[in-house]
Amino acid sequence: MISKIQQEILRLKKEKGITILAHNYVAKEIIEIADYNGDSFKLSRDAQKDNADTCIMCGVHFMAETAKILSPKKKVILAQEIAGCPMAEQFSAEDVVAFKKEHPDYTVVAYINTTAALKTVCDVCVTSASAVDICRKIENDKILFIPDRNLGSYVADMIPDKQFVFWNGGCPVHARITANDAARAKEAHPEALLLVHPECIPAVTEQADFIGSTTAIMKFAEQSQAKSFIIGTEISIVEQLEYLCPDKRFYSLTKNLICPNMKSITLMDVLRAVKGEGGLEIKLDADVIEKASVCINEMLRLG
Ligand code: 13P
Ligand code: SF4
Repeated sequence: MISKIQQEILRLKKEKGITILAHNYVAKEIIEIADYNGDSFKLSRDAQKDNADTCIMCGVHFMAETAKILSPKKKVILAQEIAGCPMAEQFSAEDVVAFKKEHPDYTVVAYINTTAALKTVCDVCVTSASAVDICRKIENDKILFIPDRNLGSYVADMIPDKQFVFWNGGCPVHARITANDAARAKEAHPEALLLVHPECIPAVTEQADFIGSTTAIMKFAEQSQAKSFIIGTEISIVEQLEYLCPDKRFYSLTKNLICPNMKSITLMDVLRAVKGEGGLEIKLDADVIEKASVCINEMLRLG
């Protein structure tokens, strides 16, 4: 059944000239039929370079918005309209405008996991992979880092000479991993290296052998001489690594490392979107695209 749906998607997307983008966290049967797979910013860049007029984002809402900002002339469809990222919506543009009014000397850094509306009032964007490098290069020592406090703290630890302010935002999936979870997993698999996403709390990242974005974690595990790994990010990364490195062992840090938003996207959603019968077309005002591009372009200039 799954392969029949996959074949139908592949046939239709070829016939209609549609590109499918799949984030590292979506179900593997979707990754299998995607043209591009990776982290959120990579997917938007892939879509930008691709010739297709229409792309379907199998990821969460802010990822489809980022693809639209980078390729305003393309039709960008979010495969499952309810797939949002709670972290991206934790603060509003008004919150940032009010902060800037009181603290005009701060640079506002927005994690890519933010809405397009929020990006319009931020100064620089970062991804989990580029956050340390970009914050180091920003020509200001005072930084408000939003929305993820954990990623922000990780960056601040790497750049002790800068002054960081955080708000209380974060990813509910990663923030639920406790220091005890990490200690227990290490005790159960003493030979394994612990690889975690910087969205985890500091008491978890402190115990890690490697901290990085989804792509960086996968690259590290693939290239490492070690034979077993505990993975502190969404369960899909464990599945993908098991497939990519059959001679190595991978353990999920906890059993409940599942992003319900990413997992709300099904193969049938993708089929409906390819048929033009489902999904959500992303529409952004030209003004929003122009202003949100400023902070993305600033990331590209600094990076
Ligand atoms: P990456 O940018 O590392 O792929 O992470 C996206 C995300 O949503 C992490 O929870
Ligand atoms: Fe958002 Fe967390 Fe899901 Fe990533 S894992 S999409 S940050 S809720």
